[in-house]
Amino acid sequence: MDKFVIKGGRRLTGEVTISGAKNAAVALLPAVILCDEPCILENVPSISDVNICLRILKEMGAEVTSLGKDSYRIDPTNIDKCCVPYETARKMRASYYFLGSLLGKFNKARVSMPGGCPLGDRPIDQHLKAFSALGAEYTLSQGMIDLRAEKLTGNQIFFDVVSVGATMNAILAAVKAQGLTVIENAAKEPHIVDLANFLNSMGANIMGAGTDVIKIRGVEHLHGTSYSVIPDQIEAGTFMIVAAATKGDVLVKNVIPKHLESITKKLEKIGVNIEQFDDSIRVWVDGPLVKTSVKTTPHPGFPTDMQPQIATLLTLAEGTSIVTEGVWEQRFRYVDELRRMGADISVDGKVAVIEGTGKLMGAPVKACDLRAGAALIIAGLAASGITEIEDIFHVERGYDCMEGKLRALGADIEKVSFPDADAESESSARKTAI
Ligand code: EPZ
Repeated sequence: MDKFVIKGGRRLTGEVTISGAKNAAVALLPAVILCDEPCILENVPSISDVNICLRILKEMGAEVTSLGKDSYRIDPTNIDKCCVPYETARKMRASYYFLGSLLGKFNKARVSMPGGCPLGDRPIDQHLKAFSALGAEYTLSQGMIDLRAEKLTGNQIFFDVVSVGATMNAILAAVKAQGLTVIENAAKEPHIVDLANFLNSMGANIMGAGTDVIKIRGVEHLHGTSYSVIPDQIEAGTFMIVAAATKGDVLVKNVIPKHLESITKKLEKIGVNIEQFDDSIRVWVDGPLVKTSVKTTPHPGFPTDMQPQIATLLTLAEGTSIVTEGVWEQRFRYVDELRRMGADISVDGKVAVIEGTGKLMGAPVKACDLRAGAALIIAGLAASGITEIEDIFHVERGYDCMEGKLRALGADIEKVSFPDADAESESSARKTAI
């Protein structure tokens, strides 16, 4: 097992370069299946969720060649399987994008029910609604979803809730369907636009991505392309808060400032200084941090994937702040761990009330999901003393070389391996049992 050991209290300064967007890459990689020729993808983040996608593509018969740092050539023309193995797929939520791409290409797909972060109920009814609207039938059995269609025909799809995943899957399934598909109440996140741009670069006909109405005219053929994944909006926001929480001065490079607008505005309200450039953003603090209220909503609102991080920052601000989670049922499981570091936070359903104490103390804590892990790293960097964070595999699902980037900014952080007591005791128990 690995853990991060952080000696907090240092001001972080310098430059950090943001990697490709996790939530774009995990959709663009399955989308390659739709292409009728090899594709080149650049700026792909080196994270475990991407490695799982690459493994699934290889297991299906695609030829995957690494072209050096963050770039891959993927030839999908020999894919001969339409099933994503249970053991591989259940490791991450985004495996369900193989449903949309396999259905869109082969009129059939078999993928396990999605895994992913424990954020409360994570249904896929809107995904299935989209597939059915296009003419597919589905069955659920033994934890697997089976999709089949005689043929896919364009149709009207109205989502009952704004869903990133369902919007992505509707696009993937519709891009080769016969005729026009109109998606209404679509999600507008930057990674939705990135998927549409990637498919359009192959010759797809997708209009309106980034708005709540997306129109797709099905095409017969998708030719090869070379495409670069957009920078990760959430990694950028996370490093902006790292700079603010340590009262540092950091230039965050390889960003699209427009994608960070809601984060920038909120940080300025808290008293953080922000200077924007074409593809970078400088963040520094030279005064007190003050309370504010935050509610997470779908894009262009404040991103839910930044909620644990901004809540952690607000424990260091003066006054009482309110954080409302507007997307997920339960995204405050990290609060117990922050309390171990001296945070004064009370949670009632989807609302957290944070009494800013201005300081945190190092403690042994555990990451419960990807962004909670990022929040605990921020807390450890700002805290006095030593913080040890276990279950950092969550963080490595979505952040490319986090500790290396933090060390380059002056952080005292180390990844340490230690024997997993539970596994050891379990294996010795098995030995005695045999
Ligand atoms: C994506 O999850 C992201 N994951 C999540 O990021 C992110 O929090 C979320 O979008 C919202 O932005 C990936 O892109 C891989 P949703 P997704 O469908 O697609 C409900 C991270 O930290 N819903 O937009 O699963 C759902 O319960 C991760 O990077 C239905 O009711 O999220 C939720 O309340 C965590 N029925 C809301 O919609 C459905 O069929 C938004 O979910 C689908 C969703």
